[in-house]
Amino acid sequence: MREGRFSSAASEIAQRYSESVSFDRRLYRHDIAGSIAHASALASIGILSADEFEMIVRGLREIENEIAAGTFVWDASLEDVHMNIEAALTKRIGPAGAKLHTGRSRNDQIALDLRLYTRDEIDRIVTRLRALQNALLLLAQKHSEVLMPGYTHLQRAQPTYFAHYLLAQLEALERDHERLRDTRRRADVMPLGSGALAGSTIVLDREGIAKALGFQRVTQNSIDAVSDRDFVGDFLYSLAMIGIHLSRFSEDLITWSTSEFGFVEFSDAFATGSSLMPQKKNPDMAELTRGRAGRLIGNLVTLLTILKGLPSAYNRDLQEDKEALFDSVDTVRSALELFSAMLPELTINRERMESLANDPQLLATDLAEYLVGKGVPFREAHAIVGKLAASGKRLNALSNEEFRAASNAFGEDVREVFDVRRALQRRSATGSPSPENISRQIARWRELLEPE
Ligand code: ARG
Repeated sequence: MREGRFSSAASEIAQRYSESVSFDRRLYRHDIAGSIAHASALASIGILSADEFEMIVRGLREIENEIAAGTFVWDASLEDVHMNIEAALTKRIGPAGAKLHTGRSRNDQIALDLRLYTRDEIDRIVTRLRALQNALLLLAQKHSEVLMPGYTHLQRAQPTYFAHYLLAQLEALERDHERLRDTRRRADVMPLGSGALAGSTIVLDREGIAKALGFQRVTQNSIDAVSDRDFVGDFLYSLAMIGIHLSRFSEDLITWSTSEFGFVEFSDAFATGSSLMPQKKNPDMAELTRGRAGRLIGNLVTLLTILKGLPSAYNRDLQEDKEALFDSVDTVRSALELFSAMLPELTINRERMESLANDPQLLATDLAEYLVGKGVPFREAHAIVGKLAASGKRLNALSNEEFRAASNAFGEDVREVFDVRRALQRRSATGSPSPENISRQIARWRELLEPE
């Protein structure tokens, strides 16, 4: 590449500083698929003969196999994955290889590779996301009748079902799924033919290339096509949000696995010991997941910061998008795998959860709503029950006289308020945790998650 314009080779220090092949080699399959589609377009306008095209395809397939087998020799002085593959091809097949880059720039080539990579990785992550959703659903089905105290501000608030909590995680992951699908749609645009930034006098059948590579659309502006990393941003944001959801879930499990809570216990296979304290069982898998959300957010900020200062079209800064992207993909893929394996082995301490969920104080709101049913305005009812709760007695231990002294709207039927399962049955609006709603939600998810 330097042969014409430059009189000397790049300094070794500069080469080491600027090479990307140590990490962008990960794109080799996509790079080769793109080159084959490009070669096919060159052949169809007569720039490559049928023989040359065949040699290129055969050569690239050979290289692909060697890379997959680990026998391909990468050369950092050739800078990136694109030039390594092109140089290896030309070395093997001669002049035909030297024709491959006609009408193409590495600027549209890397844009293509990244879009192909993003599409593929989204598909793989969606599969793992689905697996985790299924693991959550199975857990919800298995423990569909287990009561638990619900918390706000980490203070015991109202009773609910453990399954309701698990289904909440499913909802969040479903939004993640939608975000990934949306990101995929935006990545699904074919940039080849944009050249460095202003297209090429070699006019290629771009729609044909798009079709060969399974793209829905082609880019409509060559400057935008080589500048655009929005889809990487969308992807990194989607991945960061998955990380944030898993971090929150982790935090819940970490808290609930303390002896103070005692709601859940991680299986030995997914817990760690202390190097010092023999009695300890630590929730490291959940803690690592919580910590790695920080990395995912960092990777998003990395990309946005790179893009923020750039002028239009390709700038070498864009090379810095890749490690952030690859790291987020790896981090989320492994976290989803971990959770899908860890959840089925989680021990649920039903007795402990239910003994706390049965705390009558958690039904203080229900008691106020009971008064509302007797015609007391809610604010007034709230104050009446607040006073009763402040008395220090359990609400269900108050005598009829004590109730009556607080408000003569209380009747004998006030006792029914303190039946937790009944209290949950009455929460029947869509989205609330009545047993009927939970069964309906479980059925809905089962249908939704059925393999398409
Ligand atoms: N390795 C480069 C990247 O990752 C490929 C494009 C290089 N283009 C260029 N004009 N130097 O962005």
